[in-house]
Amino acid sequence: MSVALPWPFPRVLAHRGGGALAPENTIAAIRVGLDRGFRAVEFDAMLAADDVPVLMHDPTLERTGLVGGGVSALPAADLGRVDVGRWHSPRFIGETVPTLERTLRFCRDHDIWPNIEIKPVPGFEVATGAAVARVTSQIYADLIRPEGERTDRFDPRIPLLSSFAPAALIAAREVAPNLPRGWLVDDVPPDWREELARLDCVSLHTDHRNLTAAQVHEIKHAGTWLFCFTVNSLQRARTLFSWGVDAVCTDAIDRIPANLTPASPAAAYR
Ligand code: G3P
Ligand code: MG
Repeated sequence: MSVALPWPFPRVLAHRGGGALAPENTIAAIRVGLDRGFRAVEFDAMLAADDVPVLMHDPTLERTGLVGGGVSALPAADLGRVDVGRWHSPRFIGETVPTLERTLRFCRDHDIWPNIEIKPVPGFEVATGAAVARVTSQIYADLIRPEGERTDRFDPRIPLLSSFAPAALIAAREVAPNLPRGWLVDDVPPDWREELARLDCVSLHTDHRNLTAAQVHEIKHAGTWLFCFTVNSLQRARTLFSWGVDAVCTDAIDRIPANLTPASPAAAYR
């Protein structure tokens, strides 16, 4: 799938819901972002023991739940009783692990565009990719083009799925071929073009710290959408946009405005 069209989605996303200002991957975090004008959000989706996708970054509950145990050992209903707000600050005590379904309904109700990172526990790549695509395609069924009608044009309200795990992306494609997908990498590999084509992804998502202007120009010349994580300096966000990067996610939702737009159109690759 090659994309020479302009990026149709928002350009600045709140990372893990509300960046550093709220407990990650919670509805409370998305509300905090919304209060600051963020109508675009990145969050992580992992499988609970009963194959229900929930919002979670780590495979264990230690860091955000302050309890032992693996996320994939508990059903979603039990995870929905784990307090994942207390670790952040007293204000968020009682905030629990939401299901992906509840989160996407919240996003639709509030006109928030989600980038759903498929975050499988190792060994669960296929199951997680398939389950995330299934839930997402149910909630957005009215906006997704029917199977068989392939397109490079997406309704800008449709979520973008992304993952570091190629098997998860392939599984998501099997379930919902017309949901856009992005491939996450820490460093842009020399064969990025071939791999992106093999995975049938519309966007490349990379750590901005390892990215150069020359790489941006190469990627944009190829007509590929380019997303950077996790950009916490306003100056750096401006630089990336001036190079031609399409979108960034940030933990600094108090320093990088949601409506930050490129200072000048990415003339370098036009
Ligand atoms: O989706 C980009 C970014 O979230 C990837 O890193 O570890 O914060 O999920 P991580
Ligand atoms: Mg993530």
